[in-house]
Amino acid sequence: MRSRGWADLYGWKIERADATPLPRQIYAQIRSAILSGALSAGSRLPSSRDLAARLGTARASVIAGYEQLVAEGYAEARPGSGTFVCADLANLICRAPLAGPRRKPRPLRPPARDFSDFERAAPAPEERPFTTGRTLVDARTVAAWRKLTHLAVRSLGADDLGYTDPCGLAGLRQSLCDYLRAARAVRCEPRQVVITAGTQQGIELAIRVLLTTGDEVWVEDPGYPLTHAQLTLAGVRPRPVPVDEHGLDVDAGLQAAPRARAAFLTPSHQFPTGVPLSMARRLALLAWAREHDAFVVEDDYTSEFCYCGPPLASLQGLDQDGRVIYVGTLNKALFPGLRLGYAVVPEPLLPAFANARYLMDRQPPTLYQTVAAEFLRRGHFAAHIRRMRQLYREQRDALVDILTNRASERLTVVAPDQGMHLVAYFRDAVSDVEVESGALRAGIVVRAISRFYRGTAPRSGLMLGFSGFPRQRIIPAAARLAALVTGGIGGKRSL
Ligand SMILES: Cc1ncc(COP(=O)(O)O)c(C=O)c1O
Repeated sequence: MRSRGWADLYGWKIERADATPLPRQIYAQIRSAILSGALSAGSRLPSSRDLAARLGTARASVIAGYEQLVAEGYAEARPGSGTFVCADLANLICRAPLAGPRRKPRPLRPPARDFSDFERAAPAPEERPFTTGRTLVDARTVAAWRKLTHLAVRSLGADDLGYTDPCGLAGLRQSLCDYLRAARAVRCEPRQVVITAGTQQGIELAIRVLLTTGDEVWVEDPGYPLTHAQLTLAGVRPRPVPVDEHGLDVDAGLQAAPRARAAFLTPSHQFPTGVPLSMARRLALLAWAREHDAFVVEDDYTSEFCYCGPPLASLQGLDQDGRVIYVGTLNKALFPGLRLGYAVVPEPLLPAFANARYLMDRQPPTLYQTVAAEFLRRGHFAAHIRRMRQLYREQRDALVDILTNRASERLTVVAPDQGMHLVAYFRDAVSDVEVESGALRAGIVVRAISRFYRGTAPRSGLMLGFSGFPRQRIIPAAARLAALVTGGIGGKRSL
């Protein structure tokens, strides 16, 4: 819907001391607002009655000013609707140049320069297979969400419109606590659950609360690039620790950075490889944290979607010493635009997290917390997860089948037990980055996994998101990808 413009909020005024007649002042003011671009083409001007009341003039003065604008083609009168800035002025209006001579901007200093250098993935206008991080939301979830949103809006009271607890609404914290105890074996009380805008904000809070400039931390190699960027931009030194088939190699971490203050990892479904952290490594990691007074930030970003029986319980559930900050999200379980997640925080750190949350953005939004709390409490969340597990499993299987049947000479495809993406590894030494750009030219989105490595020799492979696309889109896209890969995209075959 087209905006009606902002003329009602414009700072209209007249100069009584000025000898210029009032209709002329009104005309000149509107004309200059139009020419400077302050009022855009098509904007509705205030009614003559309103503007006269605001300026304390006779209505006739406003009408005379408007008539002059209409006569000169700046405005048009639409009977029954009002007076509007002419729509066909759009190309003539030029914004006033900034006052003073143009100066060459000074180069930015850190951290502004570092933030500005960070390469953010642009949201794709049209999402295509196999974009990662996408989810599907079916009609039942949409209907429940709509109903609960209406209900929440209708029942919002004065208390709900003001500031509330920075850690979130009690109802949502209780529901999440129940869910996390049952589904993820997280050990927590509702007061330990801090509502966030998602995993990323949970990680940012942990960085702010636990670390200072120059601290060393362990990160997975390969690993999630945004956590790495968040750490670096906070002045922290991430030390990449290799990941093997058992997950993060704790011994290697001890050798590389024994004095690290924290470890950031994805133990249930390592990003991007998908390997779970073995029990021996979990215990070794917790022992390291205990002995070195360090913390572990467990990013459990996608454990809802497990396809082969119950997933491994959380690392936090094994922790006896309050060393693990568990961060999770509803943005993957439901949809990324929701921006709701949670951190489960050890008791002694709670006041620090609550205050950091407060200073960062005061509190989570009340309305969507209310809706999400009811969505969980009434069982819609559990039902949604069950349905999506089934759907995503079928999508995963379709992708695996096609790539295995048609491209196994070049790709090794492992069907992950959980998560929303899989990795197809190249059997030969191929530049996955070249394949990434070649595939994009053919309309297929893949992510080269070599991009996620920091120090360890990179493997060549493609990260493919399967959760966000129905089978009827996965099947032709997978067939096209298989054809591209077997057709020699990304370099010559060396096998
Ligand atoms: C490993 C990992 N952690 C965190 C996030 C961010 O999650 P959220 O959208 O809840 O901030 C993502 C998103 O893709 C992710 O892949």
